[in-house]
Order: sequence, then C-alpha cells, then structure tokens
Amino acid sequence: MDARHVPVLLKETLEYLRVSPGAVVLDATVGLGGHSAAILESVGGDAQLIGLDRDPAALAVAGERLACFGDRVRLVQSRFSRFVEVLAELGVPGVDAVVLDAGVSSLQLDDPERGFSFLADGDLDMRMGGASGGEAPAVTLLNKASFQSLRELIRDYGEDPQAGRIARAIVAAREKEPITRTLELAAIVEAAYPAKWRATARQHPATRTFQAIRMAVNAELVELEAFLERIPDVLRPGGRVAVIAFHSLEDRLVKRAFRREAAGCICPREQMLCVCGHAPRLRILTKKPVTPGEAEVAENSRSRSAKLRAAERLADDGAQGERP
Ligand SMILES: C[S@@+](CC[C@H](N)C(=O)[O-])C[C@H]1O[C@@H](n2cnc3c(N)ncnc32)[C@H](O)[C@@H]1O
Repeated sequence: MDARHVPVLLKETLEYLRVSPGAVVLDATVGLGGHSAAILESVGGDAQLIGLDRDPAALAVAGERLACFGDRVRLVQSRFSRFVEVLAELGVPGVDAVVLDAGVSSLQLDDPERGFSFLADGDLDMRMGGASGGEAPAVTLLNKASFQSLRELIRDYGEDPQAGRIARAIVAAREKEPITRTLELAAIVEAAYPAKWRATARQHPATRTFQAIRMAVNAELVELEAFLERIPDVLRPGGRVAVIAFHSLEDRLVKRAFRREAAGCICPREQMLCVCGHAPRLRILTKKPVTPGEAEVAENSRSRSAKLRAAERLADDGAQGERP
C-alpha cells in the first residue's frame, strides 16, 4: 500500500477502541477506508460499521476497499457534525466505538484540481465536500475577506508568525487582479516571507497559510466541536471514542470536551453551590495524547503531528460501563 494511504496511529486506535464482535462502529471520517478496514478485520464476527465522509470521492474509494465486508458496512456522505441525525436516519440508536481521524486525506492533497496543494497548479477550491457541500471555495475567502480576518486566520489556524506580512501581500495582490490559482497564492506567500526566513525554513513558506485557509473554508473546528459535544449521547455504556487531531487547536478542543464530560460539577469556579447537576459521562483513557513513534513518523510523515485521545462512556449513574 502507498505509504500516504497508511492509517495514522492504527495499532493504538485499535487498542483503545477494543471493538468486540457484534459491535456497532462509527467511523466519522472514513476517508480511504484504512481505519475502517483494519477495525473490521481485527474484530471479525458480525461487527457493523457506519462510515461518514463529506467527500464523495473518498466514499467511492472507501466503498471499493470495504466491499469485501458486504452489508456490514454502510457509507453515508455527511459532515460528521450531523452524525446524530445520520444514525437516526439509519435506525441506529447507539454505537460501541467511534473513531475520528481529522484533517485532509492524501486523495484530496494529491489532486491539483481540488486546490489543497501549493506544489501543483489548480483552482483555489479546498472544499472537502466539493461543490455539493454548500461551503464557499477558498477563492471567495481569499478575495473577499478583510485584511484583519486574513491576518487572524493565518495567525490562529496557520500559527504563522508572518501572518501580518502574508495578509498584507494577499490584499495588495488581489487589488491588481483576483487570486485564483494555487501556485499564484504560494508565490505571493513565499515572496512575503523575509529572505532570511525563506532561506532557513524547514517547510515551504505557504504550508501554514494553505492549512489555515483549508481549515476556514471547511469550518473544521466548528465541525469538531459540534461532533465532540454530542458523542456521549450516542455511545453505549462501555463504548469508546478515539479522536486523532493534527492541529494544536483541534487537540485542545478534544482535551476540553473529554474533561468536561469526565467532570462532575461544571459550574463556574466562583459559584459556591452546584446548580448544574452535571454528571460525568466519560472516563478519559489517555491522560496525555498518544503520539506516533519514530518508526511510524519515518514511514509516514503525515503522522508527525498526530495526537490521539480516547475516552470511554460511563453508565448514566456514573459507573463504568459493561462491554457486551
Ligand atoms: C485523514 S482522512 C481519513 C483517513 C481514514 N482514517 C483512512 O484510514 O483512510 C480525513 C477524512 O475526513 C474527511 N472529513 C474532514 N472533515 C470532515 C467533516 N467535518 N465531516 C465529514 N468528513 C470530514 C475528509 O474528507 C477526509 O476524507
């Protein structure tokens, strides 16, 4: 298998999910079907899997890869923030394991026409769900957003210390003519970098800007937050969730959501008496995020920034759940 198609932190994901025969599994980002196939192979029996992806092209690839599992697999084109509705539509009241492997797939990165790559020329699109998803393409954001918003998103989502210079260069370039192509944007960002930084940079100067714009176009953090909020509603007692994040802001959302659901009272600190009535619904399984070992990073560079966190659904009385 092509190294770029190897699922990230696969062994660890399987260990944390501990899927048993007869389980119902939700893969919220089925992608090319790597995690899904490994889960079903590892468990055998009659485990069922529901795979979501917003990208119809990914679903086509996953469909072929998972065809050998027959009607044990159901694939649905959807944003994962809608997973509760999708499960209801399928008549699935609860699940035993959930995996979410965030971010962009190699299928998306490798197709220049989708506009995710700064290394090949294509339209500045970057919509993971293609034209069908209702999001505005990157070209709209780049040519319409104010200097301030561009600077903030390149700073916050891209974590790029040159965000101000880059945003200024984008605004100056689009005043002459709209920016429409990936290589055009990459060149604008590269030229905005101070020469000294360009010479010493370990990655292409446009890496962070492209990441930031992709995250904004696909509302990636909004999606993740909505997903995390509803996970305890559908996990059966003893069921487990594993989330693989690639960005510090994503990982922070996962950490906070798990902590909130693992806590008893969530009243503000200054409140003397509890009024929230919140009961813990999750038990955190990973005190610290699990990261890939050197061997995995050497084999698959996409895994470099991966962080896995996992949690288990408690029974509603706060007791640890029983596995079927
Ligand atoms: C890193 S890939 C998943 C790879 C997969 N785990 C595998 O082993 O092949 C991430 C996938 O998540 C999808 N995705 C990202 N955000 C999504 C969202 N909000 N809703 C649904 N799918 C999403 C992308 O389209 C992409 O196919």
